[in-house]
Amino acid sequence: MSRSHAIMSSSVKRRAHLESELFVSRSAINGRGVFSRVFIPAGAPVVECRGLIQHRDEVGIDVRAMQVGPDTYLVEDPESPSVDDFLNHSCCPNLGFVDGSLMLYALRDIEAAVELLFDYSTTMDERGWVMRCRCRAENCRGRVRSYREHPKDEQKRLRRIALAYLR
Ligand SMILES: C[S@@+](CC[C@H](N)C(=O)[O-])C[C@H]1O[C@@H](n2cnc3c(N)ncnc32)[C@H](O)[C@@H]1O
Ligand SMILES: [Zn+2]
Repeated sequence: MSRSHAIMSSSVKRRAHLESELFVSRSAINGRGVFSRVFIPAGAPVVECRGLIQHRDEVGIDVRAMQVGPDTYLVEDPESPSVDDFLNHSCCPNLGFVDGSLMLYALRDIEAAVELLFDYSTTMDERGWVMRCRCRAENCRGRVRSYREHPKDEQKRLRRIALAYLR
């Protein structure tokens, strides 16, 4: 086995292991959310967002979807649902797209049974998009907007946890 192959397979195993510890349950923020059965150390890869890639014009109204490119969305796959479909937003997230890929990493140590949350402004780039926020964080913005609709200093702060296409 080549060295690069060995590194890849051990990383895949670690990710698969942690994902198997995640579960969907009732959220205090909205509907259902995602939680971990185990403690997650800061920096750990937690969950890779999965689904069907669709052009914005194809995305149905009542589907769970997240923007992943200027015109593309990652949409829940009814044939193969995944926990990331249920991740809620926080203005003080404990997960982020640290390397710009669809993998969400722990931004700090996360105790078991704490809701896993990322900042929707690190994926969205639709002019005028707004979501009323009930995340209860001290720094809650009240209304969540697209990345580029934040002031430049806020964009700079969000950049290190945003998808690559927004950086
Ligand atoms: C991908 S779903 C997340 C899962 C959702 N809670 C459920 O039960 O289906 C995204 C939707 O969850 C809701 N949501 C997520 N985070 C929220 C927040 N911080 N405040 C209010 N609603 C939120 C919004 O309705 C948003 O469109
Ligand atoms: Zn908030």
